[in-house]
Amino acid sequence: MSVTNFPGRPSSASTSIPITKVTVPALAEMKRQSKPISALTAYDYASSRLADEAGIDLLLVGDSLAMVVLGHENTMAVTVDEMLHHTRAVRRAVRRALVVADMPFGSYHGSVAEGLANAVRFLKEAGAEAVKIEGPRIELVRALTDAEIPVFGHLGLTPQSIHRMGGYRVQARSAESAKQLKADARSLVEAGAGALVLEGVPREVAAEITAELPIPTIGIGAGPDCDGQILVFHDLLNLTFAPAAKFVRRYADVGSLIRSAIEHYREDVEHRAFPSDEESYHLAPAVRQALDASAMTGTLRKA
Ligand code: KIV
Repeated sequence: MSVTNFPGRPSSASTSIPITKVTVPALAEMKRQSKPISALTAYDYASSRLADEAGIDLLLVGDSLAMVVLGHENTMAVTVDEMLHHTRAVRRAVRRALVVADMPFGSYHGSVAEGLANAVRFLKEAGAEAVKIEGPRIELVRALTDAEIPVFGHLGLTPQSIHRMGGYRVQARSAESAKQLKADARSLVEAGAGALVLEGVPREVAAEITAELPIPTIGIGAGPDCDGQILVFHDLLNLTFAPAAKFVRRYADVGSLIRSAIEHYREDVEHRAFPSDEESYHLAPAVRQALDASAMTGTLRKA
């Protein structure tokens, strides 16, 4: 047992500053005011709570959890039920940030009706405030918008298309593909998308799209001109086991910190240095005396 969920908020890290909930319209307003949007992926209670308390505007329960949390080779395997499970944990942790859930591969690729039904689950069963889908699925974006479900688009390097793309490659490098990307972005806006994630595209292309679209763009590997930036939590903190991509900036080496803390703990256990007497519970003196006395009586009887 460990006490990680302290219902009596706020925690020591929180202040008494009143919290203004981030909403989809609030993100649009941030774009209008040229205020950069900070976004991060999130998968569990503790880390989401820390990210929320650190003031991140948008937390995306990304299907990258298939890789960084569940250890899959790519994002294809994660299921709707697994995504719901993690979205609920994030939802419980977050007070201020907008919580967006990624629709996993296969959950919206069959039909619009299926996509709509799965998206409803994310809002109804897990408390997400918006969903994200990859690719220019215009009909689905329209249907979700009509159903009052805020939807974020995701264009450029879309990891659920890894097999079609032949790997994780920067997209829209040619004039033709850059034009197509811009056209797709415009169509998503017309269909009602509330924001657009641009992943793995040249800075120039992302900058043009950002300048043209009325909705916020959130970049990852798309240069500094997007309205906001998102990173994968595990990339930011070096909790991955692979070299970082060019666009990743590691803000801390939490992987090394965790490894060395656990090594220290193991050594303490092996040397009987943990737990100490101060870290142990003790009997009340009267109980101890009573136990000692009855032990003594037992010894005398045997003798
Ligand atoms: O799943 C994810 O982490 C994402 C972000 C990289 C945008 O889709």
